[in-house]
Amino acid sequence: MHTDTTSQNLPKVNAKAEDFLPILGTDFVELYVGNAKQAAYYYQTAWGFQPVAYAGLETGKKDTTSYVLQQGKIRLVLTSPMGEGGNINRHISEHGDGVKFVSLWVDDATRSFEETVKRGAKPYAEPYTIEDEHGKAVISGIHTYGETIHLFIERKDYEGPFLPGYKAWTKVYKTETVGLKYIDHMVGNVGWNEMNKWVNFYADVMGFAQLLSFDDKDISTEYTALMSKVMSNGNGRIKFPINEPAEGKKKSQIEEYIDFYNGAGVQHIAVATDNIIETVSELQRRGVEFLNIPETYYDTVLDRVGEIDEDLAPLKELGILIDSDDEGYLLQIFTKPVLDRPTMFFEIIQRKGAQSFGKGNFKALFEAIEREQDLRGTL
Ligand SMILES: [Fe+2]
Repeated sequence: MHTDTTSQNLPKVNAKAEDFLPILGTDFVELYVGNAKQAAYYYQTAWGFQPVAYAGLETGKKDTTSYVLQQGKIRLVLTSPMGEGGNINRHISEHGDGVKFVSLWVDDATRSFEETVKRGAKPYAEPYTIEDEHGKAVISGIHTYGETIHLFIERKDYEGPFLPGYKAWTKVYKTETVGLKYIDHMVGNVGWNEMNKWVNFYADVMGFAQLLSFDDKDISTEYTALMSKVMSNGNGRIKFPINEPAEGKKKSQIEEYIDFYNGAGVQHIAVATDNIIETVSELQRRGVEFLNIPETYYDTVLDRVGEIDEDLAPLKELGILIDSDDEGYLLQIFTKPVLDRPTMFFEIIQRKGAQSFGKGNFKALFEAIEREQDLRGTL
């Protein structure tokens, strides 16, 4: 769990960011899903998340059921509606399963709401306090791209398993973790020509600053292209790359996402590990599917990135990609979409100094994605 409970002692790593909220880290990511019980089983069994908390009929909640799972500092909430109609059913019908709340852990949810709304955020929820026998929490929320919401979670006076209204979820069935530590970054896909609008939103409304930028020449293949900018808060715990499609010969993966998700939304969640070879070996053993990278990638990769600590053979066998920047290198791999619609996927990342996002791998990666799109008939 989180140990440092105030933002005061977090060093500033992105000097340009204002950090007026301030944010301590990602609190939880909540998905609206068609069948939360089975989704929870998938994240437990395949991904090694541990059961934490539950809200449903047994806890007096009649309209929705939610499961809270955790691994390292990564907290997932899976929520399904219990009846027909209503906003959650509509959300699932329109978008499929997907991320609804990217919730941020803050010192002061009231101030976070006031500061962001004052700067132009569209309010989702005015600050409200919820309580149970374990204490109280304050929550507020604002809209971001698509139907995605940033909740601000203030939990310094709360000692329970998750939040008021949830009960500890004690389960006999347990799985081993796979070594996932924290969310490294979360990527949003937005529509044509909307990247700068949302980059400005994170700068003006949230006080973030841009870390790196790519243009469509950096990250295009023969057929498809996209543009991406990375926004980060001051202490660097929150990194949000924003992608928009760029013109290519064929339909890009961003357009495919927008088509199937019916709008902007969270494209991928990058989760960090200290040992990507062990983590990915275990995930593959448990049936998690990753993008296949051609073997020829490994013929020249070390010429590009220089020396690395790991043997190349297991990286090649698992399909793990390598990239480097001025500060070091990183290892990364991408799952296939984890839903039936080709929308959300995960990235596993191990940083060995590098603070970038794998730009050197984009070409190999996009060609792998295009082969998958071709199979789906959506290229
Ligand atoms: Fe990523």
